[in-house]
Amino acid sequence: MADIGLAIAPATEGDLDGVMEIEKASFRAPWKMEAFRAELANRYSRFTGVRIEGAGGPLAAFAIYWLVVDEVHIINFAVAPEWRRRGVGRALLAHIIRDGADSGCRLIGLEVRAGNEGAIALYRGFGFSPVSVRPKYYVDNDEDALVMMLELK
Ligand SMILES: CC(C)(COP(=O)(O)OP(=O)(O)OC[C@H]1O[C@@H](n2cnc3c(N)ncnc32)[C@H](O)[C@@H]1OP(=O)(O)O)[C@@H](O)C(=O)NCCC(=O)NCCS
Repeated sequence: MADIGLAIAPATEGDLDGVMEIEKASFRAPWKMEAFRAELANRYSRFTGVRIEGAGGPLAAFAIYWLVVDEVHIINFAVAPEWRRRGVGRALLAHIIRDGADSGCRLIGLEVRAGNEGAIALYRGFGFSPVSVRPKYYVDNDEDALVMMLELK
């Protein structure tokens, strides 16, 4: 668990500049602002932000996940570099799993770069298993995607 107080809540338009900063610092092919704005308006999407209690300022992390019928699909997930390895990612993932279970979902899935050892370790820690590989899924460097899934009880 995080050794810091976290507030996890739906993201809003006012969070998008902070989201973009985390996105650019986290991914080699970052999403554009319009893509995030579209997720705020997507009825299947839960766009969730994490704040450090008492720290003020922009978000420390965010996730975007879709709830479609009885499955959750995590489509974006990142923690600001300065807040990594403090349990923020673990707390955010626990929130998503709880939300999925509370919403009646039976499965959570995601794609992760095959070389993203940190994220893979995080997902494995919650019981996610690799179920398939999508070869050369990431067009910027032809990296494979690992598809990972977790069955919810
Ligand atoms: C992957 C990421 C979300 C992890 O967030 P985080 O807040 O640092 O993760 P936590 O501190 O909650 O770590 C939980 C566990 O995950 C594993 N983990 C996280 N980062 C790791 C790393 N860089 N190397 C190895 N294991 C790692 C560890 O098991 C860790 O537990 P520990 O710190 O007790 O050893 C963060 O590094 C990030 O935003 N990376 C860039 C974006 C990204 O790759 N997103 C995932 C896309 S699928």
